[in-house]
Amino acid sequence: MRVNQFPEDIQPYLIPEPSGDLIYRCLECGEQFGIRHLLYTCPGCGHVLLLYDAGFDRLREISGTLWRKIFDYRRMLNIPALNGIYRYHELIGPILPLDSVVWLGEGHTPVVEANARLQRKVGLRFYFKNDGQNPSASFKDRGMASALSYIQYLIKQGYASDVLAVCASTGDTSAAAALYASFLHPDVKSAVLLPHKRVTPQQLSQPLGSGAMVFEVPGVFDDCMKIVEHLSDHYNVALLNSKNAWRILGQESYSYEIAQGFEYDMAGKTVVAPVGNAGNITAIMSGFLKFHDLGIIDDLPRIIGVQSEHANPVYKYYLEPDPQKRRFEPVQVKPSVAQAAMIGNPVSMPRVIRLVAEYNRRAGEQKTFVVEVSEQEIMDWQLRANRNGHVVCTHGGECLAGLVAARKSGKIAGHETAVLDSTAHALKFADFQQMYFDNNFPEEYGITPRSELINAPELVRPPDLKHVPEPGSPLAGKQLEDFVKRIAEEIAVRLDLKKV
Ligand code: F0G
Repeated sequence: MRVNQFPEDIQPYLIPEPSGDLIYRCLECGEQFGIRHLLYTCPGCGHVLLLYDAGFDRLREISGTLWRKIFDYRRMLNIPALNGIYRYHELIGPILPLDSVVWLGEGHTPVVEANARLQRKVGLRFYFKNDGQNPSASFKDRGMASALSYIQYLIKQGYASDVLAVCASTGDTSAAAALYASFLHPDVKSAVLLPHKRVTPQQLSQPLGSGAMVFEVPGVFDDCMKIVEHLSDHYNVALLNSKNAWRILGQESYSYEIAQGFEYDMAGKTVVAPVGNAGNITAIMSGFLKFHDLGIIDDLPRIIGVQSEHANPVYKYYLEPDPQKRRFEPVQVKPSVAQAAMIGNPVSMPRVIRLVAEYNRRAGEQKTFVVEVSEQEIMDWQLRANRNGHVVCTHGGECLAGLVAARKSGKIAGHETAVLDSTAHALKFADFQQMYFDNNFPEEYGITPRSELINAPELVRPPDLKHVPEPGSPLAGKQLEDFVKRIAEEIAVRLDLKKV
C-alpha cells in the first residue's frame, strides 16, 4: 500500500527518518563513547558494551497505542528497508538512513503452533518461532542485518572503507556474517574462524559459498573467540561476534515480532531460548524491556534459557539463589548435539547478569529462569518435534526439552503459552540426526537412540529383477513394465497394502 493511502494520522510516522543519539555504554564503569568508530569493549576498563539511545525520551512522547498502530501499519508497506527488522527502526538503528539498511529477507519468521498431539504430550500450549527460515537458516541474520547496515552507513559517510569483518563461530554466526558481508563486497570482506571439526558440513559450506576466508582452528569455540578478540584488539578488523553491540540491537527484533504476533499481549506468555554465547537471551530480554518501557506491552513475558549439561555455565551460575553469593565460573565444555551453543565462557554473561536483575526488578517478580537438559533429551525432543510437522534443529529440540523440564519443575504452569526459539533449520544439523538413526554417537554424548524414533531408507531391489534402469541407460518396453510392476509389488508388500 502507498503511503498516501494510509490514515492521515499515521502517515507522518510510517517512514522513519534518522533520529536519536546512539552511544556505547560500558556495563562495568558506565563510561560512554560515540559510535563513529566500531567499539567492542570499553577502551577504559575492557568490559563489554551495550548501545543506548541517549534520546530515548523522545520515543516516550508517542503512546504505546500509537506505537502499536505504527508497527501494524508498517506491515502493509512495500519498502524493502522496512520489510525486515527495521520495521522497528526507532528501536534498532534510529540513526540509520533507510538507504544504509541491508535487507536480505531476514526477520518476520513464522510462529507456528505445535500440533495438538505434541501439545498434549508436553502439557501446555506452545509455538515454535522458526528462525531457521531466515536467509542463512538461523537467527544470526537478525544481528548481522543490523551490524552490516551500520557498517554500510559508516562506509557511505566516509568513516570506514575496505572493511575486513571477522568472527569466531560455532557455524551459524559465520554463515550469516559471510552472507551479509558478501552482499557488500568489495567494500566489505569477511574472514571467519571455526573450531576444527566442530561445525557441521552444512555450516562449513555456507561461508565457503559466500566467498569468505575460512580458518579452521584447533580447540573449541572459546579458543576461537580469544583469537578474534586478539585480532580485533591489535589489527584493523571489524568484529562481528555478538560482542559487537550492533548485533544485539538487531536480535532484539525477535522479541518485537513475538509481541506484535500476539497482538502485544504478553500476559501468561513464556519465551524459551537456548543459551550459548548468551547474545540471544541478552537481546530477547533487552527487546521486551524496551517495548515495556514504551508502553507497547503491559506485561513482561517469562524467559526460560536452556543449556545442555555439557555446556552449562549460565545454568550453574543461577543455581545459587543468593545474588550476592553468585560467582561466574567458565566451564570446560563436552561434546554436545546443541553444538552451536557448546560454549563454556559466554561473552555476554556480564550483560545477562545485569539484564536478568533489571528484568525481574521491572516485572516485580522472578520472571527469568535457566534450566538444564541432557543430550538424550535434546535429541529425543528434536526428533519428536519434527515428527509432528516442525523443522527444528538440535537447539530447537533443546528448547522443547527445556520447556518439558520447566513444566515438570513447576517453572511454568499448564495454562500458560510458550514460544520456543527454533534458532536454526533442521538441515544444518542433519548429521546428528544421522548419528542417532545409525546409533553411532561417540560415548561421551551419552545418547542411546529410542527405537521408535529411528528411521532409515530401505533399498528396493528385488534380486529376481534382472533389469533396472541406470542414469543414461533407461529401460523401455517389457523391461520397463516388469520393473515398475515388480518394484510396486515389493513396496506394496512392505507397506502391507491391500489391493483395490
Ligand atoms: N542456536 C543456534 C543455532 C546457534 O547458532 C547459537 C549460537 C545458539 C543457539 C546460542 O545463541 O550464542 O546467542 O546464546 N551460535 C553462535 C555461532 C555462537 O557462532 O554461530 P547465543
